[in-house]
Amino acid sequence: MSSKHASKIELIPWDHTSPEHVQRMYDQRVACGWRADEVPLWVEAAKKGGKIFYWALLSDVVPDREKLIEKHIEAYPKEATRLRDTAAEIRLVPRQPTNAEFIPIGHVAVDIHEPEEDMKLGLPPTGTVWIHQLYISRALHRGGFGAGTMSKIETLATQSPMNANIMALDTISKEMQTVPAFRDVLYGEGRIPVPSISNEDWYTGLGYNAFKREKDAFVSEPKQGVSVSIDLVYMKKAIV
Ligand SMILES: CC(C)(COP(=O)(O)OP(=O)(O)OC[C@H]1O[C@@H](n2cnc3c(N)ncnc32)[C@H](O)[C@@H]1OP(=O)(O)O)[C@@H](O)C(=O)NCCC(=O)NCCS
Repeated sequence: MSSKHASKIELIPWDHTSPEHVQRMYDQRVACGWRADEVPLWVEAAKKGGKIFYWALLSDVVPDREKLIEKHIEAYPKEATRLRDTAAEIRLVPRQPTNAEFIPIGHVAVDIHEPEEDMKLGLPPTGTVWIHQLYISRALHRGGFGAGTMSKIETLATQSPMNANIMALDTISKEMQTVPAFRDVLYGEGRIPVPSISNEDWYTGLGYNAFKREKDAFVSEPKQGVSVSIDLVYMKKAIV
């Protein structure tokens, strides 16, 4: 079911061949606080028709749209320049870019995993689309833009060529975001603000259910010289 926030957001594909799009992705990942160093890997993945990103932008129906964009740019001055819709393909499928100018206020990635990987997690071999790297400008949180972005990407995933019926994701466990011992290492001290709601609770609010937990899934270095072993929760939702 489409979210009441869906109409607030439009999605435009990331152009991995555009230096401006690549730089903006890097700047938004730095602002997000996670995985900025992986942008070159995502360029390579996009070249092969793998994981693909979409920009989230405020749609015309959002009241005070221009003021909100100004608020975003005030908080993130590096993002003041407009990008152009130039992506000529999505997952190797050609598209006609509009060349329209826009300011993205966030982004989200989608990917299809190998059937064996999905089956190992108890998912069917086909029909699952994975969400990765959702980010909305911290200047604009609580406006329904994250939920709007998810709703739009879920709809897109149900359509050709992805034709998904399940949306899945993994995210840091609620415990790691709420227990002070973990939270203080991952957030604060000028790094990124502590989230006011855990990702797990936020996605639960959007209809996602946890179906697996994995301890010590990977090691992150949130601050120089500090390594933390991250616990993940896997969540999914039927989208048709
Ligand atoms: C997670 C994230 C995308 C949420 O974006 P957002 O635009 O602030 O969320 P929304 O305003 O769309 O929230 C949707 C719903 O969750 C609720 N919600 C959002 N933040 C909340 C909070 N702090 N406390 C309680 N409820 C909250 C909203 O009230 C809204 O409910 P409604 O539909 O009943 O109005 C955003 O916080 C973010 O980018 N965080 C940093 C990156 C990250 O952690 N990404 C997820 C990693 S997998």
